[in-house]
Amino acid sequence: MPSRFKIHAPRFWIASLLLGIGLFAYALAASVPAAQAAASSPRPAAQEQKPNDFCLACHQEEGVSAEFGGESLPATINPTRYGLSVHAQEGVACADCHANMSEYPHPKTDAASVRDFRLSFGETCKECHNEEYDAAHDSVHQAALTAGDPNAPLCADCHNPHEQPRIIGQNSGQLTIAARKDLPAACSQCHADQVAVYKNSVHGSALADGNRDVPSCTDCHGVHNIVGADNAFHNNTPALCAECHSDKELMTRYGLSTSVLETYVADFHGTTAVLFEKQFPDQRVDTAVCTDCHGVHDISDPNNPQTGIAMQDNLLTKCQRCHPDATANFPAAWMGHYEPSPTHYPLVYYVNLFYKFFIPMVLGGMIFFVLTDVYRRLINRAKGVKH
Ligand code: HEC
Ligand code: HEC
Ligand code: HEC
Ligand code: HEC
Ligand code: HEC
Ligand code: HEC
Ligand code: HEC
Ligand code: HEC
Ligand code: HEC
Repeated sequence: MPSRFKIHAPRFWIASLLLGIGLFAYALAASVPAAQAAASSPRPAAQEQKPNDFCLACHQEEGVSAEFGGESLPATINPTRYGLSVHAQEGVACADCHANMSEYPHPKTDAASVRDFRLSFGETCKECHNEEYDAAHDSVHQAALTAGDPNAPLCADCHNPHEQPRIIGQNSGQLTIAARKDLPAACSQCHADQVAVYKNSVHGSALADGNRDVPSCTDCHGVHNIVGADNAFHNNTPALCAECHSDKELMTRYGLSTSVLETYVADFHGTTAVLFEKQFPDQRVDTAVCTDCHGVHDISDPNNPQTGIAMQDNLLTKCQRCHPDATANFPAAWMGHYEPSPTHYPLVYYVNLFYKFFIPMVLGGMIFFVLTDVYRRLINRAKGVKH
């Protein structure tokens, strides 16, 4: 034993020395990026941060999976897709979102299901995205979440944290075209019916072609602050549509009329709707708003021969919902968005014109009469006083 030790002693010392130098060099090399990471890290790590490579060494393997209450969750992270994500490119580390995973075996999670596990990340994004987190607070989605609805969306349902690309253009500060086109797909996970219908609409088909001017889901509903499609939302429809359809610059690009709101407000339905909304904001107006004639997610070009409401038969079915006895010539009672003119609805036009002159004439005549009368009386009185 002693002789064997003696024989190996020099080699032992040399090996130890080399190992020492190696370790020292490694520590030096490792400490530089670690220090840099610590300096630029968005938050001071509670524990020593392990580099992403440490995690990915295991997590890039196919077939890794975790288990929660008997349900299995694949735990493979694709390193290429992760590397392309906005978070990887902004230097956000695995450990920024998974502070408790720095050792293996990982600490036991007490999540009873995969859903529970996912819910445990409820506050993870808050630190860096406070604005979006706060906006979500009063939303219909948050309400569903609080009520325990298992289908309520979490941040990660719409933004895969490991693959989320950049969606706001760094120069434009706007949602990129690619992200706009993809947007309905995020909602489609849970609102497939609305998305399928929207895709074929005049708005949805233009969006698919990369048009920036047409509304996507979030332009009408909001993004993180989506409210329920309740009565107040329904009653507000004319204002919602008018945001774009009364915008002269926008509408001239498409050769569309900007008087659709005015003409609507001026007709029987619109007049009632406006008054009603002011008085009973929470009750559903019973007269027609834009979407009762045009559809909601299925709005089409009015002149489309199959779906267009400029076609009398198509329009009639819309009227019949509220006017069950309406017959073929009933839609003619709606003047459309045309402002009466000598060619469109000449009778209405001339009656309006008549009133335009008749009323000022009658009123003007009366005022003239009253004023001259007052004047005469004043003069007479003044004369009376002199006497
Ligand atoms: C030695 C291999 C290994 C390393 C290194 C490793 N993990 Fe894991 N991880 C696993 C395995 C295997 C599972 C599956 C569940 C289990 O066995 O704990 C897992 C599960 C997970 C889960 C699922 C949640 C859970 O509680 O099971 C997360 C999140 C996770 N790892 C993140 C990380 C992060 C972040 C790092 C780096 C800081 C990391 N892991 C490093 C092997 C590893
Ligand atoms: C921006 C925050 C964020 C970053 C960065 C992040 N994760 Fe995650 N991770 C999450 C969230 C949130 C979940 C919960 C999963 C869900 O809801 O789909 C999760 C879940 C996981 C899971 C469980 C399986 C799964 O996909 O749900 C593993 C494993 C995991 N992360 C590993 C990693 C590794 C490894 C890295 C670094 C390469 C990393 N994560 C970086 C936020 C993040
Ligand atoms: C440690 C900080 C940090 C955490 C935690 C974090 N993020 Fe991020 N995230 C960033 C940074 C930095 C960017 C780059 C955005 C920028 O330039 O403003 C980003 C970008 C994004 C973007 C793209 C925005 C854009 O400008 O294109 C989305 C979406 C996003 N994060 C979602 C999430 C979600 C969801 C979570 C929680 C699972 C999360 N983030 C957690 C730091 C973080
Ligand atoms: C129902 C789907 C959905 C949910 C849930 C969701 N987002 Fe978003 N998020 C979007 C969409 C869509 C956009 C694109 C924004 C747009 O239309 O302008 C977006 C944009 C963002 C952006 C880019 C900057 C911005 O505000 O436009 C960040 C950051 C972000 N979300 C973080 C979060 C965080 C954090 C959560 C959880 C509190 C969350 N999101 C929940 C759909 C969602
Ligand atoms: C993971 C599932 C999920 C995703 C993704 C999702 N939602 Fe929802 N949404 C729900 C749930 C759950 C409710 C509340 C229950 C209900 O009314 O259906 C809801 C409610 C709504 C409502 C109110 C409906 C009503 O009848 O009052 C609107 C509007 C809405 N979501 C729009 C969107 C939009 C826009 C997107 C995409 C940006 C989206 N949702 C993505 C699950 C989801
Ligand atoms: C032009 C505006 C507009 C666009 C774009 C739009 N919606 Fe709607 N949405 C509405 C209106 C208005 C209602 C309420 C209908 C009513 O009751 O009057 C509604 C209702 C809803 C509802 C409640 C259920 C229902 O069908 O009434 C959901 C869910 C919904 N929208 C999701 C979506 C999704 C997902 C998208 C994207 C594909 C989308 N919306 C695009 C205006 C819009
Ligand atoms: C974000 C702006 C925006 C909003 C909000 C909006 N629209 Fe539009 N709409 C457009 C644009 C832009 C077009 C032209 C699209 C094209 O021709 O490619 C259009 C086209 C139309 C058309 C087809 C006109 C034709 O003759 O081809 C109708 C009808 C229409 N919208 C009705 C509505 C109604 C009803 C609402 C409210 C529920 C609404 N829009 C909300 C921007 C908007
Ligand atoms: C959502 C329900 C609804 C739809 C759809 C609807 N209306 Fe009406 N309409 C009403 C209500 C309620 C009144 C009575 C209150 C008022 O004057 O606004 C009314 C009043 C009228 C009047 C005034 C004379 C009367 O009978 O009181 C005419 C004309 C009319 N509608 C035509 C139409 C035509 C044409 C259509 C189809 C293009 C149509 N309506 C679609 C609800 C609707
Ligand atoms: C009573 C049914 C009805 C209501 C309510 C209604 N519309 Fe229309 N709309 C029509 C019909 C029919 C046409 C096609 C013929 C025409 O222009 O009158 C049309 C045409 C249009 C067009 C195409 C205009 C063009 O230049 O080609 C737009 C845009 C439009 N409507 C938007 C709206 C908006 C926004 C509202 C609500 C403020 C609204 N409509 C309310 C029936 C209606």
